Amino acid sequence: MQVSQPASATERQQPILSIRGLCTEFATPAGVLRAVQDLSLDVMPGECVGIVGESGSGKSVSFASVMGLIKPPGRVAAGEIVFAGMDLRKLSTQDMRAVRGKRMAMTMQDALTALNPSMTVEQQLLEVILAHDEDIVQSARWGKNAKAYKRAVEMLELVGIPSAAKRLRDYPHQFSGGMRQRIMIAIALACKPDLLIADEPTTALDVTIQAQVLELIGSLRRELGMSMVLITHDLSVVAEQCDRVVVMYAGQVVESGPTSEIIGQALHPYTRGLLAATPRVEDLAMPVRPIAGTVPSLINFPRQCHFYSRCQQRADACLSEIALSEPDVWRQVRCIRSEKERCA
Ligand SMILES: Nc1ncnc2c1ncn2[C@@H]1O[C@H](COP(=O)(O)OP(=O)(O)O)[C@@H](O)[C@H]1O
Ligand SMILES: [Mg+2]
Repeated sequence: MQVSQPASATERQQPILSIRGLCTEFATPAGVLRAVQDLSLDVMPGECVGIVGESGSGKSVSFASVMGLIKPPGRVAAGEIVFAGMDLRKLSTQDMRAVRGKRMAMTMQDALTALNPSMTVEQQLLEVILAHDEDIVQSARWGKNAKAYKRAVEMLELVGIPSAAKRLRDYPHQFSGGMRQRIMIAIALACKPDLLIADEPTTALDVTIQAQVLELIGSLRRELGMSMVLITHDLSVVAEQCDRVVVMYAGQVVESGPTSEIIGQALHPYTRGLLAATPRVEDLAMPVRPIAGTVPSLINFPRQCHFYSRCQQRADACLSEIALSEPDVWRQVRCIRSEKERCA
């Protein structure tokens, strides 16, 4: 009988995306705005990682940095971004564009502004398909564009747009908000990415449509075996979809871990605040308590706990720089009280 050997360290799965020490900042008239500060995280093949935090936490800027989409006066000031073994910050603009189109795609928060208003859905889908699928490009060169067109119809069908062939000729404004999100997902998926970054895919939608779009994203991910980063301000969204959660606050990771641990045993007062502010499906009678106060400005922000001004448990020690508790990337917390509470 053959006994299988334990996988050696080298055979263990490598992350599809590995971010280390990412810092992204914007020059503003009032000073440097440090939007993302020392962000490290891994996404494993096939995994869905949720990025959660209030508006202004640095979620979108983090992944716009990964996609190479930060424009002056913004810049990635430090850090390493390795995707599928490629050190993205060292790639040429041309190579980065190829990665962005072929292997990694991002859907933007606002579908209406992200889609081109003056092009039909067909034109926008064909642009992606022709730019990234060599077989189809070859046949299109010979005047046989039918293959690309067929793919475009298939993509719209995949995301559940009724009468797909007919609707290809429509412009973005002719679709509802939910349908526009679906179209953006179809365009993102048209290049068959290994990693899909979905930035608040359901924020602008009403509750029933939200559920449909999330369900769609979940089933496509499983079907296509994609890795995914799901950005949201809503913890109930990640609870449904994600294997792991990274909580961001004011430019920093404050907590990360498996979804069940984050929901069941949150260690950071900010995460607990987010949980208390999230309506529970199983107990809608329970009142939600929003976190008092607002996210601080990140221009000239002192080196202290970023949550200090809003924290119910703050202490003098929180007025110095607080590090993430563990070098382990799978369960981390940035709070001086976390050790004590973990033991309690
Ligand atoms: N183009 C920009 N110029 C200046 N500041 C920006 C720009 N884009 C984002 N920021 C700032 O970076 C911070 C993080 O923004 P963002 O990543 O969009 O937050 P989130 O996606 O978590 O809501 C915010 O303070 C925001 O104002
Ligand atoms: Mg955002």
